[in-house]
Amino acid sequence: MLKDQAAGLRAMKSQFKQTVASPKKTPDSETGADNLVRVIAVASGKGGVGKTNVSVNLGVALSKLGQKVMLMDADFSLANVDIMLGLNTPFNLSHVINGEKTLRDILQSGPSGLKIIPASSGVKRLANLSPQENMGLLREFERLGSDMDILIIDTAAGIADSVVTFCQAANDVLVVVCDEPASITDAYALVKVLSKDYQVQDFKLVVNMSRSPAQSKRLYEKFSRVCQQYLGVSITFFGAIPFDHDLRSAVQKQSPVILSFPESAAAKSFRAMAAGLTNKSAHKSTHYFGQFVRNMLKL
Ligand SMILES: Nc1ncnc2c1ncn2[C@@H]1O[C@H](COP(=O)(O)OP(=O)(O)OP(=O)(O)O)[C@@H](O)[C@H]1O
Ligand SMILES: [Mg+2]
Repeated sequence: MLKDQAAGLRAMKSQFKQTVASPKKTPDSETGADNLVRVIAVASGKGGVGKTNVSVNLGVALSKLGQKVMLMDADFSLANVDIMLGLNTPFNLSHVINGEKTLRDILQSGPSGLKIIPASSGVKRLANLSPQENMGLLREFERLGSDMDILIIDTAAGIADSVVTFCQAANDVLVVVCDEPASITDAYALVKVLSKDYQVQDFKLVVNMSRSPAQSKRLYEKFSRVCQQYLGVSITFFGAIPFDHDLRSAVQKQSPVILSFPESAAAKSFRAMAAGLTNKSAHKSTHYFGQFVRNMLKL
């Protein structure tokens, strides 16, 4: 147990050096299929704990650091990314699946060069595509791969099939949690299902609406200890975002807090997380984008 705690603390100390996205392109890649793209799924189990805010603000922060970032709205029941960014998204992934639009057609331009894939209602159909539709979508995504370094997937609340699929296919699973029993229990349930049934072993914890660094640390230690003890899974501390009224005002204004209140405590936390992700000194190999798309489409 002590060993686990020590490992947890070490992980926490080096939180901003742990994960990296410094994607390299293979020289002869034409379609983008062979590109190394970091795919980050943002999940939480419980709804309303901050997934969309984490996805959007992290996306903008990474874009500002010069990364080519795409953000996929994978919440088919309650698409939120467009609302949070004040975008009008007439088309989504379902139009691509139907053959009415290409993936590039439906892409939306967000702030600071962030690109948005309004997947939403199309996500539900991903599980039931015909082989032809699957191949068509695979090619569409692979073409897009050459235009991105990082893909962030804002998943739905709960542990629906789509959430599991995206988490399983991603390189990193960010688990957003806040210090309340339902959030902790649901996040644990998510980690349990993903680790036991789908062999996902790498999780990064984001503590949201934190009241103090000490509270974040305690929550991380408690969560990681339980996951280690009962699931044999180690959790890395990815970052903490304080409870911040500016973030709430930003949501009202339909503008990411990192842009509307750049000096707020929440904005600073998002920038720190993005800097940790792109920290080249701690480079970690990434997966090929083509493989992610195949995993996503369960090919
Ligand atoms: N750090 C924070 N400080 C204060 N309020 C916050 C913070 N993070 C999130 N909130 C509040 O929680 C609400 C829900 O956040 P968000 O939409 O990002 O959660 P979600 O997990 O994506 O929800 P859903 O599961 O419904 O998709 C926000 O509208 C905001 O009011
Ligand atoms: Mg959301």
